[in-house]
Amino acid sequence: MNYRKLGNLEVSALGLGCMGMTGVYGSGADRSAMIRLIHDAYERGVTFFDTAEAYGPFANEALLGEALQPIRDKVVIATKFGFDIDLETGARTGGTNSRPEHIKAVADAALKRLKTDRIDLFYQHRVDPAVPIEDVAGAVKDLIDAGKVGHFGLSEAGVQTIRRAHAVQPVTAVQIEYSLFWRGPEVELLTELEKLGIGFVPFSPLGAGFLTGKIDETTTFEKDDFRNLVPRLAPEVRTANMALVEVVKSVAARKAATPAQVALGWLLAQKPWIVPIPGTTKVHRLEENLGAVDLDLTPNDLAEINAEAAKVEVQGDRLPEAVLKMTEN
Ligand SMILES: NC(=O)c1ccc[n+]([C@@H]2O[C@H](COP(=O)([O-])OP(=O)(O)OC[C@H]3O[C@@H](n4cnc5c(N)ncnc54)[C@H](OP(=O)(O)O)[C@@H]3O)[C@@H](O)[C@H]2O)c1
Repeated sequence: MNYRKLGNLEVSALGLGCMGMTGVYGSGADRSAMIRLIHDAYERGVTFFDTAEAYGPFANEALLGEALQPIRDKVVIATKFGFDIDLETGARTGGTNSRPEHIKAVADAALKRLKTDRIDLFYQHRVDPAVPIEDVAGAVKDLIDAGKVGHFGLSEAGVQTIRRAHAVQPVTAVQIEYSLFWRGPEVELLTELEKLGIGFVPFSPLGAGFLTGKIDETTTFEKDDFRNLVPRLAPEVRTANMALVEVVKSVAARKAATPAQVALGWLLAQKPWIVPIPGTTKVHRLEENLGAVDLDLTPNDLAEINAEAAKVEVQGDRLPEAVLKMTEN
C-alpha cells in the first residue's frame, strides 16, 4: 500500500467505501462478514474508511464503530452529516439539514455510533440551500475547536461553495463522483482544488460497478438496488455505454490487470492528491481493487485510455433526477 495526503491528512492511496455493506446496492451483506472485511482491508494497508449518517440511516456508522474500535487509533474515519434525518428514529424527509445546531447534534450521535471521541473527517453530504455555507463551516470549526472533529470535508459541492467554506474553515477534502464514467470534476473542480491545496476523494470510482465489466446487458439488479433508478444504467442505454467498459477491458488485457484495476489506476494517475474509495462486500474484490495501487499505467496507456474514452458519449444521467438536483455538479 502507498499513502497519500488529503490536505494535511495522511491516508492509504485507496480507501474503502462502506456504503454498500448495509444496503443501497441491494439489501446489504452479512454484518459479521463485513466486520471481517473491514479488518481484512486494514491488514492489507487500508487506513481510510468512508461512511455517513445517512447510510442505513445509522446502521453503517454502527457497523464501522464496532469493526474499527480495536484499531481506532490506526485508521481515519470519514463520515457525513447534512440530510434531514430524525436523530431518534432515523426517519428522513429526503431533504437537507445543515443548520448548525443540527450538525452538532449529528456529530454527537455519530461519535456514539462510531464508538470514538473524534471524527477524523466530517463532510457535509449535500449543500443545504437554506443554510449559508459560512454557517456550516463555522459549525464544523466549533466542532474542530472542541476536539470532536479533525478535518472538514464537502461532498458534491460546487467550486463557489468550496471557496466560501474554505475561507471560514480550511477544507481538507472534497468528495464528488469521478471516474471514466463521470468526468465532470475535470471541468473546473480539479484545478480549483489544486490551487487551494484540498484533497479529492472520488466516490463511485468504479461507476457503481459498471467499469468492472461484471455488469452487462443481461444483468438484473435486486428489486431494492438503487441502480435500478440510475439513468445511465438503464437497459436501453447500457449497450451503448458498454463501449466505455471495452476501453478499460482492452487496456486491462494488455497489462495483465483487471478492468477494475485499470479504472482505479487511471484515477490514481490523475493527481497525487486523489484517493478513490471503491466499495465492495467481497474480500476477493477488495484484494483485486487494492492491486490498482501497484498497477503501472504509463503515459502511453493513459493517453490511449483518454483517447478511446473520448470517443464514447455516455448515455443517461449519472443519478436519478431528484438526486441530481441536490448536487452542485
Ligand atoms: N458522497 C456521496 O454522495 C457518495 C455517493 C455514493 C457513494 N459514496 C461513497 O463512495 C463509496 C464507493 O462508491 P459506490 O459504492 O457508489 O461505487 P463503486 O465503488 O464505484 O462500486 C461499488 C460496486 O461495485 C462492485 N465492485 C466493487 N469492486 C468490484 C470488482 N473488483 N469487480 C466487480 N464488481 C466490483 C460492488 O459490488 P460487491 O459489493 O458485490 O463487490 C458494488 O456494487 C461508497 O461506498 C460510499 O462510501 C459517496
